[in-house]
Amino acid sequence: MTRIFAIANQKGGVGKTTTAVNLAASLSLSGKRVLLIDLDPQGNSTTACGLDKHGIRFTTNELLLGEQDVLTCIHPSQGGDYAVIPANGELTTAEVRLVSKIGREMVLRLALQQISGRYDIVLIDCPPALNILTVNALVAAEDVIVPMQCEYFALEGLSALMETIGQVRQAVNPQLAIFGVLRTMYDGRNRLSQEVSQQLEAHFGATLFNTIIPRNVRLAEAPSHGLSVIAYDPSSSGAQAYLELAQEMMQRMMSAPA
Ligand SMILES: Nc1ncnc2c1ncn2[C@@H]1O[C@H](COP(=O)(O)OP(=O)(O)OP(=O)(O)O)[C@@H](O)[C@H]1O
Ligand SMILES: [Mg+2]
Repeated sequence: MTRIFAIANQKGGVGKTTTAVNLAASLSLSGKRVLLIDLDPQGNSTTACGLDKHGIRFTTNELLLGEQDVLTCIHPSQGGDYAVIPANGELTTAEVRLVSKIGREMVLRLALQQISGRYDIVLIDCPPALNILTVNALVAAEDVIVPMQCEYFALEGLSALMETIGQVRQAVNPQLAIFGVLRTMYDGRNRLSQEVSQQLEAHFGATLFNTIIPRNVRLAEAPSHGLSVIAYDPSSSGAQAYLELAQEMMQRMMSAPA
């Protein structure tokens, strides 16, 4: 059975893409069949998978516009054993056109039903906005992973995300749940980082992943080589943290089946 995760937080730069790409690499190393979907016109996941976002054809834009079928849009990642549906700036075309389309929230969900069972895990990297693209991800997914930066204002804007999740649940996708909240860019030497981490513990309890992603420069360097950090520097603290997160995620999946 395929399990679909939206990696979402409308706050920019909190580690959504870093989490999507490195979880894809880590989970595939554990033998899972993984599909990563880039749903952000910035195309950062696409680049981080070693694909040329400017030259690539058959992306999430064509998929959402209904111009190509889902299988045509799936590409192998470079430097990792997982598949990718890439994105680039053209995705804004779909974003604009979807707004006036009937059933606009359901497009990705319906497309993914056609490949049901082909992958164990689908990860959707959302843009930093609560727009129609993110709503498509939330309607297609069973689970949401919310990366949060261990910095001041981490919780700001969270209520808007929760409200959107609540609306999607009520309207079309009652199964949707927060699978885990992830602390990212944690710096143990920084008092504020520690305080925010404790705040998140108090606020989210068991929903919070035990695994904490440290601030690690290797995580920031890897995308420019078109590699996950697992391939770029497997011994780095960033790689170790994402491998650990993948294990924690698989344990949670077993104890909380979709
Ligand atoms: N744990 C980390 N340690 C160091 N740098 C990190 C870490 N996580 C992410 N970064 C860097 O921080 C920046 C933002 O991360 P990322 O692109 O993953 O966030 P995002 O939430 O996807 O951003 P956007 O909202 O723009 O899509 C990137 O330059 C990334 O390389
Ligand atoms: Mg991103």
